Amino acid sequence: MEQEQVKEHFAKQAAEYEQLMVKLVPDYLAQHQIIHNLLPQEDKNYRVLDLGCGNGILSELIFKKLPNSFIVAFDLTADMLNAFEKKLSTKGGKFQVVQGDFRTDPIGQGYDIILAGLTLHHLTWEERAEFYHKLSAALNPDGLLLTREIIIDEDPAVRQEQYSYWKKFIQTQGEDPEFWYAKHLKKDHPVTLTDHFTWLKNAGFKKAACHWRLYNFVITTARK
Ligand SMILES: C[S@@+](CC[C@H](N)C(=O)[O-])C[C@H]1O[C@@H](n2cnc3c(N)ncnc32)[C@H](O)[C@@H]1O
Repeated sequence: MEQEQVKEHFAKQAAEYEQLMVKLVPDYLAQHQIIHNLLPQEDKNYRVLDLGCGNGILSELIFKKLPNSFIVAFDLTADMLNAFEKKLSTKGGKFQVVQGDFRTDPIGQGYDIILAGLTLHHLTWEERAEFYHKLSAALNPDGLLLTREIIIDEDPAVRQEQYSYWKKFIQTQGEDPEFWYAKHLKKDHPVTLTDHFTWLKNAGFKKAACHWRLYNFVITTARK
């Protein structure tokens, strides 16, 4: 999918992003408790990158647990960044929004934490390996990379089974599963956890782990 189409897709979602995610991503809100637990316990002056920040849902979590952080909120879509600024309007001076394409534009450096929430699947297979090096270069030593992602299972039969569980979930939420599945196939590039961990290792990450999984959705961390 072209970047203009990705922008258009997310621009349409910006106003009601969270309500939609609850209907499309199993346990979307429950994931936030796990992400919260995985963040550092001690509040320091962390420099955080929220990559593909959308409306700021994960940055909100950061400020709840680690209020002394400074966040760089990076996204392609202006409407999402506007929604971010609105959501976090009380945190002025504690964040900077950057509009850009993380595949081609600089993403900054010196981060203690990088959050990539439902973001990496926008990279194509060919772009992945190099991008993990870009993430590594942006992190400080021992920095934390935390991702939540849509993935595919290594076994094609399990993959199909998980897609069918996912579609059933979408249907129970009153959304059209075939519409969203077709969109997913057209615009997303999910990979297996095996590949994710291999690319992490090749880029110098350590302690890579999957902490939560439901069907084709995961939460992972790794340390530089
Ligand atoms: C599904 S939303 C995720 C929002 C939030 N991080 C979360 O966990 O719910 C994906 C976001 O990534 C952004 N995005 C997609 N491709 C991008 C790219 N190449 N560069 C920067 N942002 C991108 C979209 O604009 C969108 O806001």
